[in-house]
Amino acid sequence: MDLEGKTAMVTGASGDIGRAIAKALALAGCDVAVTYVGDLERAETTAAAVEASGRKASIIRLDQRDSDSISEAATAVIDAHGRCDVLVNNAGWNIGIPFPDLEQLDVPTWDRVLETNLRGPYLLARALAPSLRRDGAGRIVNIASIGGLYPGSSSIAYSCSKAGLIHLTHCLAVAMAPSVTVNCIAPGLVEGTRMAKRLTPEMADLARSMTVLGQVGSASDIADASVMLCRAETITGQTIVVDGGSPPVMNFG
Ligand SMILES: NC(=O)c1ccc[n+]([C@@H]2O[C@H](COP(=O)([O-])OP(=O)(O)OC[C@H]3O[C@@H](n4cnc5c(N)ncnc54)[C@H](OP(=O)(O)O)[C@@H]3O)[C@@H](O)[C@H]2O)c1
Repeated sequence: MDLEGKTAMVTGASGDIGRAIAKALALAGCDVAVTYVGDLERAETTAAAVEASGRKASIIRLDQRDSDSISEAATAVIDAHGRCDVLVNNAGWNIGIPFPDLEQLDVPTWDRVLETNLRGPYLLARALAPSLRRDGAGRIVNIASIGGLYPGSSSIAYSCSKAGLIHLTHCLAVAMAPSVTVNCIAPGLVEGTRMAKRLTPEMADLARSMTVLGQVGSASDIADASVMLCRAETITGQTIVVDGGSPPVMNFG
């Protein structure tokens, strides 16, 4: 699909990876709705980068834990741009809780992770489905984690939320075919991101040392993969791992 003149909503575009995706989609020709939940200043920086590419940007506050906020954000995208062709479910939240520490992973933490990382992307896809389906060429890209493929990450809740997001990708690919393709990217540790900095140094070092390429993933590789999945006509229900080539054992995305 030619992305020129399309509109993309990138959730969590105040964050490091979301910003890279928003910039790459703008360079590919998309106007971009930039969402944030608390950090307006960072969202403004992302929007300025989109505009520097000659594309229109809007800034929308979105709390993925709040179904009203999701409905309002979906309406705001259509109000601002008149359409939404691409939804990148990038926003996510995590907290470092070692897997064996079952007591520390309490109900509020579990709910926050699952609501943000899994229920939110579903509700956004549902809210934007009419627009995504409208021209028969909508795109959804979900940003999961290798923690959703293997039992290892910042917490059991995060790993389960991302496993759910990967399977949500499969389910939505069926539900929204043929008018919308739905794909997923599963990063490992992404160097330089705030999320990576929240890992313990030991976990980050171990993740780096386990890659066959000697380097973990980059936000620009994730952004490039997102653009590729949006352009592709016949790829759906797939998950691309961007992790520097980690063996399929305990991982730390
Ligand atoms: N960084 C990594 O190493 C890594 C590895 C694997 C997977 N990932 C995944 O990649 C995605 C982006 O990660 P990142 O490193 O760019 O993280 P980040 O810099 O911490 O950004 C997270 C983004 O999510 C937004 N957000 C948090 N809670 C939200 C909520 N309740 N509702 C709506 N938005 C919310 C944040 O908004 P504010 O800025 O306004 O707070 C921010 O824009 C996430 O889904 C993450 O799980 C990252």
